[in-house]
Amino acid sequence: MQGRNADDDWWRHAVVYQVYPRSFADADGDGVGDVAGIRSKLPHLAALGVDAIWISPWYPSPMKDAGYDVSDYRDIEPVFGTLAEADALIAEAHEAGIKVIIDIVPNHTSDQHVLFQRALAAGPGSPERDLFIFRDGRGAGGELPPNDWQSTFGGPAWTRVADGQWYLHLFTPEQPDVNWRSPAIRAEFETSLRFWFDRGIDGFRIDVAHGLEKDWALPDLNGLEFPLEDDAEHDHPHWDQPRVHDIFREWRTVADEYSPSRAFCGEIWVGRAHRLVAYLRPDELHTAFNFDFLTAPWLPGDLRAVIDRTIDSHASVGAPPTWVLGNHDVARPVSRYAREQQGLVKMARNLVHFEGRPADFELGLRRARAAALLMLALPGGAYVYQGEELGLPEAEHIPVEALQDPVWVQSNGTDKGRDGCRVPLPWTASGTSYGFSPAGGAAPWLPQPDDWAPLAADAQDGVEGSTLELYRAALGLRRELAAFGDGDFAWLDAPDGVLAFTRPGRAGEPGVRSWTNFGPDAVALPEGEVLLASGPLAGVMLPPDTTAWLRA
Ligand code: NOJ
Repeated sequence: MQGRNADDDWWRHAVVYQVYPRSFADADGDGVGDVAGIRSKLPHLAALGVDAIWISPWYPSPMKDAGYDVSDYRDIEPVFGTLAEADALIAEAHEAGIKVIIDIVPNHTSDQHVLFQRALAAGPGSPERDLFIFRDGRGAGGELPPNDWQSTFGGPAWTRVADGQWYLHLFTPEQPDVNWRSPAIRAEFETSLRFWFDRGIDGFRIDVAHGLEKDWALPDLNGLEFPLEDDAEHDHPHWDQPRVHDIFREWRTVADEYSPSRAFCGEIWVGRAHRLVAYLRPDELHTAFNFDFLTAPWLPGDLRAVIDRTIDSHASVGAPPTWVLGNHDVARPVSRYAREQQGLVKMARNLVHFEGRPADFELGLRRARAAALLMLALPGGAYVYQGEELGLPEAEHIPVEALQDPVWVQSNGTDKGRDGCRVPLPWTASGTSYGFSPAGGAAPWLPQPDDWAPLAADAQDGVEGSTLELYRAALGLRRELAAFGDGDFAWLDAPDGVLAFTRPGRAGEPGVRSWTNFGPDAVALPEGEVLLASGPLAGVMLPPDTTAWLRA
């Protein structure tokens, strides 16, 4: 184990790199990424300097939602590899000083999961059906869904089965929601947690953690929007239900049985800081993604407010703040920041939210690089989504017939969905699918843009000023200097349009200052050694949309 990553509290300051296995690296040439591909790229990840990887679902799955429809939580999808390969990956990652977090999907299973298949076969009123959320319909013949809930991807959240009952699915019809009031479901998931903890994984990312509990009266929404207003006193019937916390208290006791304790990171879209940190109380989850930061526009006032709110709210429960700019569900930061940032809807994250706003991709990349240094200097942990270290933009022109995301179909072709951030990575400027697959391999499962050669990892390797070298240098400094990661933070006085803060030194080392210029003109940097900058400096001047780190 290397450096600070060896301590038990590694999750308080870790940089976690998200591997989306379908699109990371394809070793066997079928056009889909695999576990062997991840193993082959561990040297890339070690050289990048990440502390941990989070692997999106790698379980057997009919892939109706790219693996978030799990048909067996205790095996590996054959397209991705085998359990033996997963074991080897975990061991090799640990050898390289990299922790391994995997995804668990507890809100729903695949409709092909044996438990759902049994529930279908067993019929209404059976104990098997009680593991999911089956109800009779409304209307004289039960021909109407039990209530007006909608799937997150569009369309009704209920599907009717042959015997006339309906089952709930907050996502696709192939992802039936499970019943967390059922002791059998609780036991089932606890067994899966232990299965992977026993294999040596260091933690879980929890899919839709805020969705597991429902209001069992199943009331209509009657147009109730989510996220709720900050001061709302009522709850939403299927998101962020208060009883969900009991589940995570149980999970925490399981994680704490291991030494060192395993760590959880919740995917929790609640849009209200006080509700988010309720999941991070000392006996619940360790960390959660900070989607307020991800969705904040590139504007100093908005970002400053989010940073303050994050630090204050997390401190109130003793949890480390975390920071994130992208993942497999949102448009890549280069493409979001390439567009006008004023007047966006709250939590704008997909390109539908930016429609009609022309893009300047050079500007987007400059801002994404500045955002990366800003984020990596903030206190706590950070997430990097695969391809951010290459400065990849969203692939915006995937032909509709090649789209795979169920969002396209469920939105009746009004939203192209999330495929644009899931395109296979370019590893080499030349070769089959930019080196994603071996020479002569099948076409990648999503088409890659034809102008990505300059963004390929090998085209940036060793090139001064490339985005890859910027990330390597930043993560290297994070490991070297005790001021980074969890710890103190204070804003500094700075000219208008500049966000400047200090991370005080520790262990006899000097601290670090971070300056980001959001304004239209260059500003003079204070005196001090510049450790790293997200773009070229003009002497002592910090250009627009640039971050510089200075020794304090
Ligand atoms: C959140 C995941 O990140 C997303 O990709 C998935 O579609 C939904 N949860 C449903 O599992």
